[in-house]
Amino acid sequence: MALLDARQLVIKKIEILRNRVNKLNKKPSLIIIRIGNDFASGKYVANKIKRCEEVGIESKIIHLEEDVKQEIVEETILKLNEDKDVTGILLQLPIPKHLDEDYLTNIIENDKDVDGFTIGNMGKLCLGLDGNVACTPRGIITLLKEFKIDIEGQDVLIINRSNIVGKPLSQLFLNENATVTIAHSKTKNLKEKIKLSDIVVTAVGKSNFLRSEDFSPSTTIIDVSINFNEEGKMCGDVCKSDYEGLINKNCNLTPVPNGVGQMTVIELIEQTIEIEEKRERI
Ligand code: GUN
Repeated sequence: MALLDARQLVIKKIEILRNRVNKLNKKPSLIIIRIGNDFASGKYVANKIKRCEEVGIESKIIHLEEDVKQEIVEETILKLNEDKDVTGILLQLPIPKHLDEDYLTNIIENDKDVDGFTIGNMGKLCLGLDGNVACTPRGIITLLKEFKIDIEGQDVLIINRSNIVGKPLSQLFLNENATVTIAHSKTKNLKEKIKLSDIVVTAVGKSNFLRSEDFSPSTTIIDVSINFNEEGKMCGDVCKSDYEGLINKNCNLTPVPNGVGQMTVIELIEQTIEIEEKRERI
């Protein structure tokens, strides 16, 4: 029982993924559409590009102005859908408010939707069919399996109901035969539910939202949030000064940084490779 630090796992996976890329006839290519100058998005995109380089995937950023017209974004996506050299398309979220996020996310070709965000891919996930799956939820399941943490039959509480995290993750846990509860801002008796859970996934977005005393001994805690505390340091929802107390209580905990965030990028890269592998098999 310990900190579930993803760094060693990421190093191992990069090596494996690089070998898979080398076996392909064509290098996979990932196109990232970034709109505007959101600081956090810029960092996330840079990190994705760096990982692409490490495994030998071709990548490109299409950077559009903050005030870009909806038709231009639409045209850009439709062109990429048609381009046979493009393996995967990613529209970095959030996008400026004047753009229709649901519409633009959904015109990405299902097979090129490396985020697994389209209605087609979300529908396949709910039906238990093969499709692309949101990368953060994928990364959480991979992390639990790599650290040999039981999922089957476990009581899982997910504190998040977003389309990116909570909803797809609940489906993945169901596929693994867990018993899943989704909590949100209107949930009653949250603290009681946390105490009764074997695995707690938190993506609330508030530093110090959870403390050591909130959890029963031996709970596995997956902290998805990326917050910044008063000193400007990156942290999750779980209070950093309580990490030691949680380890002493025999809990498992993903640290922030070096936890789930690292896994999201690796899964994005792996899904891009999987798409190209499928294309070559057809
Ligand atoms: N913004 C925050 N997380 C994500 C993600 O996983 N994919 C995309 N496209 N945008 C994001």
